[in-house]
Amino acid sequence: MQSKLEGWSEKYELGIEEIDLQHHYFLDLIARLSKELQSSNDHSYHKSLFIELGLYTHFHFISEENLMYRASFPGLKEHKKLHNQLIDGLNRNKLLFEDGYIQALQVVEFLELWFLNHTVGEDRKFADFLKKSEQD
Ligand SMILES: [Fe+2]
Repeated sequence: MQSKLEGWSEKYELGIEEIDLQHHYFLDLIARLSKELQSSNDHSYHKSLFIELGLYTHFHFISEENLMYRASFPGLKEHKKLHNQLIDGLNRNKLLFEDGYIQALQVVEFLELWFLNHTVGEDRKFADFLKKSEQD
């Protein structure tokens, strides 16, 4: 199965270097998880892959929230809620996959939607805010 995202592209760039670097790495992690979940049956390796993705997600979200805080972004509280929902969703997918209720493909679809809706969509609101406050 090929990922719908097909690697990093300029269209995903928000113009905030620190965040773009982290999003790029996040996308690479999704691609790796997708490939490895399907090519390996090693249960403990699967667990480790989810831990790797989960830890990076935590780091990235906190890093983004701190950046928003420094910029006095008014949408920070709402954005934090979205981050928490994604973490809950990730934990749910991890458990369902590990217990055999869903396939790797479904986990990957969840992550791809996350990337497209949140990383490219919601995070852009912050980028737009930053651009606007630089102009003022
Ligand atoms: Fe975000």
